[in-house]
Amino acid sequence: MTHPDTDLIPLPRRAQHGPPAGGEGTTLDERTEIEARPGTERVARWLRQTVGAATGLPLAPFRDSGNRIVLQLDPETERELGPEGYRLVTDGPLTVIEGGGEAGLFWGAQTLRQLLGPDAFRRAPTAPDKRTWPLPALRIEDAPRFRWRGMMLDVARHFLPKDGVLRYLDLLAAHKLNVLHLHLTDDQGWRIEITRYPKLTEVGGWRERTKLGHRASPLWDERPHGGFYTQDDIREIVAYAAERHITVVPEIDIPGHSQAAIAAYPELGNSDVVDTAALKVWDTWGVNPNVLAPTENTLRFYENVLEDVLALFPAPFVHIGGDECPKDQWRASPTAQARIAELGLAGEDELQSWFIRHFDRWLTARGRRLIGWDEIIEGGLAEGAAVSSWRGYGGGIAAARAGHDVVMCPEQQVYLDHRQHASMDEPVPIGFVRTLEDVYRFEPVPAELSGEEAARIMGTQANAWSEVMDSQQRVDYQVFPRLTAFAEVAWSQLPPSDARDYQDFTRRMTAHYARLDALGVGYRPPAGPHPWQRRPGVLGRPIDGAPPNV
Ligand code: ACM
Repeated sequence: MTHPDTDLIPLPRRAQHGPPAGGEGTTLDERTEIEARPGTERVARWLRQTVGAATGLPLAPFRDSGNRIVLQLDPETERELGPEGYRLVTDGPLTVIEGGGEAGLFWGAQTLRQLLGPDAFRRAPTAPDKRTWPLPALRIEDAPRFRWRGMMLDVARHFLPKDGVLRYLDLLAAHKLNVLHLHLTDDQGWRIEITRYPKLTEVGGWRERTKLGHRASPLWDERPHGGFYTQDDIREIVAYAAERHITVVPEIDIPGHSQAAIAAYPELGNSDVVDTAALKVWDTWGVNPNVLAPTENTLRFYENVLEDVLALFPAPFVHIGGDECPKDQWRASPTAQARIAELGLAGEDELQSWFIRHFDRWLTARGRRLIGWDEIIEGGLAEGAAVSSWRGYGGGIAAARAGHDVVMCPEQQVYLDHRQHASMDEPVPIGFVRTLEDVYRFEPVPAELSGEEAARIMGTQANAWSEVMDSQQRVDYQVFPRLTAFAEVAWSQLPPSDARDYQDFTRRMTAHYARLDALGVGYRPPAGPHPWQRRPGVLGRPIDGAPPNV
């Protein structure tokens, strides 16, 4: 348990306060230098750029000051706490951060920033004559529970401009989260430039209008909506993430959720059953019947798309979606039926797994691993493939038992687009009511797994679908403060759900709200939305327990 005056989130593994940790603590001031030992220069740069900007302190490279921040990589810390572990000690004039690896050092630097108080989260000093920044006397040892601590941003339903993505990378880093899953393609938009197929973004990158609210809502936003990331934008996002020890996992959804691609290249769709040339980028929400045709042309097209994706994203995993693929068109399509016969498949369900297995082999041959939504386990997978368990724990349990790695992200617990209170004041309420406390009590590892099976749970992820989140403010409102509770679940060694100290978490949240305010995050206040955060008149789906698809 931490000392009340530090209020760290996520909770560190061990924290000791006062002597012998460092007596009176220490103070950063204009003489404080950064002694960056080998391999720590990037973290030193981050400290100078962020903490330096917020405090106005130069944090100059070490020359001769006694008062300094020492950054080093330490093999013993790595042995004991792993590459993402760190030790932080304030000891008289020295503030020492030792990382198991560079990532651990970076998480230690994030802790240092929290210890400096909320103003350390601003981009410039509010009190330029404040020359001293005290740090409490303490010794921290810390390491994450899970190696995959993720958030999914759906930039397909509503585009989040590049600056917003970079901002979210900073917000993830401030919470020691290390995976950004970018949902780049869907029926409502294609958001990544692909060199060979310019129409994916020219045509697929925008729609003429947008359903406002749940799909049953009568309202439309008649403004065109769109946008995409150029390949240089993606390179910038990936590099910015890497500096913050965040891996960006791209998602290119197949064979469902593909209407934007079909609108751009009609031959990708089942043109023997629907007039795919007449399809536009979809303007409303739900599960869409217009899915990819199971042809060689489609396979080659997506291989070419993925060639670009592999060149842009160094992540070991590529997400290929695989969820919610209605089979009606394949049932009606002579081309699909001929393919089923030719491959000797039992039916349309096996055609879906044939699609997935093709790209599973294709990615494996290129040294990458496929990850997909839990529908993909239905047809059997190659050994290296991993599963995002979204329809509950069941898919993840089955996948772990079959020897696959799993990311737990059940919609019943960690879909952040879902309403966070039962009140009708919640903006465009959809899905389950999941409060801050519900998320705090979320347990990613189901009790029925054996130790060996549980080791397959790589980690956990919170998903922010954007059908009803049409702006950065709406994203902030849905994501925060719940992402903060989620970050503690993903990082800290918490007791079982019922035994978690939610009171202590809410106490620490008081300090954390001040950090979020300094960062400019438009979170949901504990007492409910500000008037300007409400969306009166925009229909959500106000039935608790309803299926979550808007
Ligand atoms: C999903 O929510 N369709 C993965």
